[in-house]
Amino acid sequence: MTNVDVNTRVERVEKLPPVSNQIQEKIDAFGHEDNAFAIGNLGDIIRKHRIWKECFPRIEPFYAVKCNDVDPVIRILADMGLSFDCASKIEIQKILDLGVDPSRIIYANTFKQSSFLKYAAEKGVSLMTFDCEDELEKIKKVYPEAKLVLRICPQSNYKVKFHLGRKFGCHPLRTSELFQVARRLQLNVIGVSFHVGSGCLETGAFAEAIEQSREVFDIGLAMGFNMHLLDIGGGFPGKKIQNVETNITFKEIGRVANKSLDKYFPGNNVRIIAEPGRYYVASAFTIAVNIITKKIVMDEEIVQPNSTECGDDPTTENKPVRMYVINDGIYGCFFECFIDPRCYVPSHFKSIDKELYNSTIWGPTCDALDLIIDNVKLPDLSTGDWIYFKDMGAYSFPTISTFNNMPRVNEFYTCERQLWEEVYQP
Ligand SMILES: Cc1ncc(COP(=O)(O)O)c(C=O)c1O
Repeated sequence: MTNVDVNTRVERVEKLPPVSNQIQEKIDAFGHEDNAFAIGNLGDIIRKHRIWKECFPRIEPFYAVKCNDVDPVIRILADMGLSFDCASKIEIQKILDLGVDPSRIIYANTFKQSSFLKYAAEKGVSLMTFDCEDELEKIKKVYPEAKLVLRICPQSNYKVKFHLGRKFGCHPLRTSELFQVARRLQLNVIGVSFHVGSGCLETGAFAEAIEQSREVFDIGLAMGFNMHLLDIGGGFPGKKIQNVETNITFKEIGRVANKSLDKYFPGNNVRIIAEPGRYYVASAFTIAVNIITKKIVMDEEIVQPNSTECGDDPTTENKPVRMYVINDGIYGCFFECFIDPRCYVPSHFKSIDKELYNSTIWGPTCDALDLIIDNVKLPDLSTGDWIYFKDMGAYSFPTISTFNNMPRVNEFYTCERQLWEEVYQP
């Protein structure tokens, strides 16, 4: 068990107060310190794993490291016995450094740099995905013993927030060709994988993808491959705030996916794995930010996108807009608003019966794209006030850049003792 570092960073408490109190406690303890900070609740991750095991007793989770790779998170996941989906040499290295056996890693990037593949071969990380002929040729040269999983791009019209199919996956109709190439190269194809897209909005996406995987599986079997693994990817929701991410729940996905698995992959002769990312970590983190500047402008004065004129939009009313610039933004933990502008919900410490005003929230860099929330109703806040955002654990830390050299958020970790002791017996 590798809990030494975690022990030094995680505050264990009998009972966790509401997150607003935890934030206030930290602010009080800082004095004049005003850097943005994150509170990570590892107990939330422990609970998520419990729910995973209840909903998906048949499916082994390979946590997608790309989603949140901070040390305490990957350590607790490793210590709970999870396996990992890695996308690069450094991710593989990080997971191996935790003492995780190479057999608990899938190299699930269909595009692998040759030197990374060589590293995987040296370390014995043999399970990996592919979706094109070129990748098979490379694997043949560098790691011919690898255990290969063909990633397909399921054909469906179900809604997801972030489609991955334009870049990844092979059209199910082209899979025979790829199997033939693998056959000619004498490579070892053992299974099929898919990813319905991150932020799945309809459970049917999983049902359809599992059915299509069965067809591809049968093609592989008919061509003589020893097909025995299905990887159902990621895409499971992980936020607590409803309707921000998706209307469907993890449990609903579980019900639908299990039913399809029982129908198309009955029995126990096929190993089923998944690559959940946001499910495990999204709700575990809250980020508190400080308002560094408040600027009030009139609606009409704002230059609209695609315009050089102020206020040339006839629909704007000439009302004041409160612009709040906070000390973290899209180059920090708020990268996801690039692709989903409505994904963040701010909370504040003002009483809820205060009057609300049109507001925008901006990040701290000199980039005018560094806009976190446009058009949100907030009470009148001031420079120096703190606001906070829940559900910030997914795709926040790994996407932080050094643009403008703004500081990285400080991280604090906490866990309820009883949950901690489920993983680390006292
Ligand atoms: C190959 C792969 N697996 C798993 C994931 C994790 O997806 P999610 O965080 O939606 O569960 C991703 C995310 O982009 C991915 O690309």
